[in-house]
Formats: sequence, structure tokens, C-alpha cells
Amino acid sequence: MEPSTTKTVRLDQITPASAQILHVAQGYLHITNIPKNFNYESFLLNTLELGQLLEQPGGDNSTLVKPEPNYENRSDSRTSGSIPPHTDGPWLNTPVGILALACHSPGEKVVPTCLHDMTRFITESLPLPLLNKALERPINWKSDFSDDVKSAPIFEGKNQKLITRYSQNMILLGESSPNLKRSQNAFTHSSCDDFSYCFAALYRDWSQKPQNQLHAYLQKGDLILFSNHRFTHEVEGNKSPSRCLERWFLSGEK
Ligand SMILES: [Fe+2]
Repeated sequence: MEPSTTKTVRLDQITPASAQILHVAQGYLHITNIPKNFNYESFLLNTLELGQLLEQPGGDNSTLVKPEPNYENRSDSRTSGSIPPHTDGPWLNTPVGILALACHSPGEKVVPTCLHDMTRFITESLPLPLLNKALERPINWKSDFSDDVKSAPIFEGKNQKLITRYSQNMILLGESSPNLKRSQNAFTHSSCDDFSYCFAALYRDWSQKPQNQLHAYLQKGDLILFSNHRFTHEVEGNKSPSRCLERWFLSGEK
């Protein structure tokens, strides 16, 4: 796996080759200087050739991501609070390949979109017994948008690519062992039988370290794209009421 890299370019510098960074799930692409009334869908499908447009949970092609009143304590895009690291749609059979987020208004106070390279976590910090369990053991995920519960592993090989699936809020953790202590040693012990607790705690600790975070500060007229199979994303801090992004899901396959 190539190390993750990022690229920030103006819209007028974009070529079809710019999307290569996304097709190999190598990092994120941050495009600036996008004019008003831009045709995002044509750009994503025809210029960048990012595969198929996939339905949003409401059935539309795109969703406005903005804080709603009285949603402070939710864990999804409607909250005004922070959202911990997750991939979008972990309960889906295969989570969407690429996320595109356009910034229509950053709000008075810009909160960064923070990405974490989960494949780096595997190689740097995940003990082998836990990696093997994450690859093979289906765990239960709940949906934010329905009562659906789906069973799937955290890591899955598909078409010679590694697909990651994660959201601490959407893992149905069940009961933890009374012997399980929230300490690094307990979690890395190979006989640990509380797999999802161990994994969630290790990933939380790893993803909170500054060296494992890529911060993108979106301004009005920016578009950011990244692999939802490689990166988890999170929003840190409270969003201003006027913050408004637009989100698309793409298959990422030509
Ligand atoms: Fe998300």
C-alpha cells in the first residue's frame, strides 16, 4: 500500500489524471476555487470519472450536511456536535467507495474535517491477533437511518483491495467482559475476548494522536474527495449553525 498523500489544487488545474489519487485510494483531493452554480455531478462522473453515483440514505443523489436544532447529541451528519471517526455506511453490504464533500458555507468558525488512514493503523498499531479477528469476524452494525442491523467484518478484501468498515457509534458492542479494563495492556492481550471493545479503544487512541490526523479546512467553494474504504473521517468541535456542506457518494469504480 502506498503511503497516503494529499493534494490541493485549483479547479482550473484539474485534469482527469488528478483523480488517480482517489482510484488508488492514496489520499484526499482538495479542490478550491469552484464557482457558484457548478455542476458537481457532471464533474464527478465525467471529468474525474469516479464511477457511479450512489444513493444517499434519503434516496437522493446528494445530501445537505448541516446542523439541525436539537440534534446536539446525535452521531450523524445532522448534529451540531463532533462526530467520532467513522466510514460512511458501515452497515451497507459494501460501504461507498468515495465521499465528495462540497463546502457551500464553512460557518463563522471553521471546524476541520479530519481524516485518518486506517490502513496505516493496521501496519503500525494493530496487534496481529486483533487484525486476524478484524479480517474474519463479522460483527453487528446498526444503521442511523433505520432499524437495520447488518453483520460484516471490519476489514474485508474485495477485488484485490482492502475495504475498511468502522464507526464506534454503529458497532453493537454488547456486553463487555467484567475483567476488561480500559488500558492498553489489557486490550493488546492476545487472549482478549472482547474484540470490538479492544478494537474501538485502540483505534480511538491511535486516531487521536496528531501525527495520525490529516486536517482539511474547507472554505466556501471547496470540494474534498477521499476514499471511504481507506480513511475514517471525523468532525472535531461544534459546528456553526450556518455551516453547510453537500455530500455525494461514488462507487469509485470505472
Ligand atoms: Fe460521515
